[in-house]
Formats: sequence, structure tokens, C-alpha cells
Amino acid sequence: MNTANAREFPFSFQHFDRLRKISISHTGILVPDSKQEMFYARLAKRLRHLKIADFDSYIRYLESHWDEEGTDFINALTTNLTAFFRENHHFEFLASQVVPACRQAGVNPVRVWSAGCSTGEEPYSIAMTLSEACAQHRLDWELTATDLDTDVLSKASRGVYRLERLDGVSMERKKRFFQKGTGKKQGYARARASLRETMNFRQLNLVKPFSLGGTFDVIFCRNVVIYFDRDTKSVLVNQFAEHLKPEGYLVMGHSESLHGISDRFRSLGQTIYQRIG
Ligand SMILES: C[S@@+](CC[C@H](N)C(=O)[O-])C[C@H]1O[C@@H](n2cnc3c(N)ncnc32)[C@H](O)[C@@H]1O
Repeated sequence: MNTANAREFPFSFQHFDRLRKISISHTGILVPDSKQEMFYARLAKRLRHLKIADFDSYIRYLESHWDEEGTDFINALTTNLTAFFRENHHFEFLASQVVPACRQAGVNPVRVWSAGCSTGEEPYSIAMTLSEACAQHRLDWELTATDLDTDVLSKASRGVYRLERLDGVSMERKKRFFQKGTGKKQGYARARASLRETMNFRQLNLVKPFSLGGTFDVIFCRNVVIYFDRDTKSVLVNQFAEHLKPEGYLVMGHSESLHGISDRFRSLGQTIYQRIG
């Protein structure tokens, strides 16, 4: 029996192509042909949930009921892989360069945005770093964390993680910033309210025009634009420049270069960019 026959719902290349066009128009994320199986596996769950019999009916439903189904469709297709202190040099840069520079320039509070924050590991890593470094330099800080996917955002704002997820966090920070669950919550830890309450989570689609109040000292946008086409990336990076203070920093993921994408940034190495002027 081949894979196509073994499927619960028939799924042709035409179904895949129609669905990826809908996805791209809303998210800007490029979808190569190799993602056909992934689309099937993730969207078959939506058909089951909605008790829809086949993909033709699902596509009709999605197109005519975007307000009801659009969010679940996008949430099913986003890739949310993340980890605490992923690419730790970026957090070291924040503590050792950005915060002291803000202190020297009389900038207070330090304002940071985690764009594409997924389930929260990145913004909580930023929050722990800022909490320590800003206390040392007697500065306040503000952290905004956004994502397109509402499921990951609600996980992020709850701040509850399986203990294994916290492997990248030092013992000292675990004790200071997390509370271990007991009873039914054994095996989990929750970010302390003092940390959670400093963060501002909200939904934001990076491929649509957006405006966040004020400008930032640093924007983290790591492992998000990797799937965007060149024009989408370029428009977004120029929007980031508008949301940064002069000489503010844009931190990208390790495989995301701005080379040939924007002339508004200079590279400082390790995919850290500084706004020119
Ligand atoms: C692979 S995760 C990266 C998480 C974190 N930044 C990191 O590096 O660990 C990518 C995140 O980008 C979000 N994303 C994808 N397209 C987006 C868009 N158009 N607007 C906002 N967020 C988007 C996804 O929902 C996902 O949570």
C-alpha cells in the first residue's frame, strides 16, 4: 500500500498547492514541495476536529470562514521550535554591551522586543538577562514579545515548562526565576510572577504593516524570516529599522543574513546588526 492510499483523507498536490498559497498570502512563509507531508499531517487534525470529510470541503470552508478557521489553520502550520538561551552569545551581548551602553547614554528604561517569540523560551531568556544586568546598572527595562500564532502566545504567557525544557538555564537562575510544581504539577516549573508580569505578550503578524508604541534598543527576530522570500524580508527589516532607536540593534538567527537585504544596518558579527544612524 503506498502512502497516498494509506491516507485517511485523499490529499493531492493540487490540494497542497491551494493551501500553501493561502498560507503564504497570510504569513509570507515560503513552502517548498517537500512540505506536502507536513501539511497533510497537521491539517488532517483540523479535518477530524471539524468533522469535515475531505480536503475540497476543508478548502471551501477555510475560504468562506476565514474569521473562524484562519487562526487555527495558521497555528497548525507554523514551526515553533525554540529553546532557552538558544545562541547564548546573543544574551551575553545584551548583558555585556547593550545594557552598559544604555547606562552610559542615559537611556532608561532599556526597551527590547522579541518578534516571533514562540512558546516564550526566547523572551524569558531575555527577561532573566535584563533583570540581572539592569539591576547591576540600576536601570529599568521593558520587554514586548509577539508572535503570529495565538496558541504559542498563550503558552508563553502562562510560562509553564516541563523541567527538561529548562536544561539550558543555570541552577542559580532556575531557583531565582522559576517555581517548581508539586502534586499534579510535578515535573513542571512556572516562571515566577515577578518575571511574567514584566512582559507584554501580543499577537502581531510581521508580514502585515504594524506599529508598536515607541522605539526599541534591541529587536530579537531569530529563526523567523528564514522562510520568508527576499522582498518580504526586505520590507520587514526596513520596518524594524523604523522601530529601532538610532544605533539600536537587530539580532537575527544564525543562518539569517541581511547581506543584500537592507542597507540600513551594519553587521557586528554573529548575526547581530546595528542600525546605521
Ligand atoms: C522557529 S520559531 C523561533 C522562535 C524564537 N525566536 C527562537 O529563535 O527560538 C519561529 C516563530 O515565528 C513565528 N512566525 C512565523 N511567521 C510569522 C509572522 N508572519 N509573523 C509573526 N510571527 C511569525 C512562528 O509562529 C514561530 O513561533
